Amino acid sequence: MATKTTETNTTAGSNSSATASSKKTTQVDNATVNEDKMKSSPLHKFFLSALKDIYFAEHAIIEALEKMQQAATTEELKEAFEDHQLQTQKHVSRLEKIFRLLEETPEKKECEAIKGIIKEGEEIIKSTEEGSMTRDAALIIAAQKVEHYEIATYGGLAQLAITMGHDKVADLLEKTLQEEEDTDYNLTDIAETFINFDAEQED
Ligand SMILES: [Fe+2]
Ligand SMILES: [Fe+2]
Repeated sequence: MATKTTETNTTAGSNSSATASSKKTTQVDNATVNEDKMKSSPLHKFFLSALKDIYFAEHAIIEALEKMQQAATTEELKEAFEDHQLQTQKHVSRLEKIFRLLEETPEKKECEAIKGIIKEGEEIIKSTEEGSMTRDAALIIAAQKVEHYEIATYGGLAQLAITMGHDKVADLLEKTLQEEEDTDYNLTDIAETFINFDAEQED
């Protein structure tokens, strides 16, 4: 059967191995054309730009979590920030892996949104009393704003990756998404269990 197909596709005078190799070359050429076409598509360009944006954001979050950890009142919150800082370092490595899978160089694109959210956290540290529970209650909300920004980004990008057929990339984005969601739930739990009630009692 294979010979018949080869014969159909063979021009007069060529042998079958030459045809097979030219067919292979055509397939490789087609793959390259498809790859180039995919890379120049507006959606792919947006996808890449959004990855650079969150790559910048994750680096900024590592620094912010350090400051928030130092500023927090309770051990529970300090620990939560420390744990998530370690996870955030993994998020950076995962993004680097994603850039590699897409045959792109990891690059940071300045993200005004995360800079604003982090600035809000810094304002909270300045405007609340050191050692107070009110500070922790406010810091949790600031940290959850960061998580929600990440959840929106990773959720959307994971869906786009699936649509564009980047399955491995989608898996990595979903892994990080899950960790951001878990962190968000954990922060709510800490607020409700250890912090909000005591903060409400403060003068
Ligand atoms: Fe993250
Ligand atoms: Fe996060």
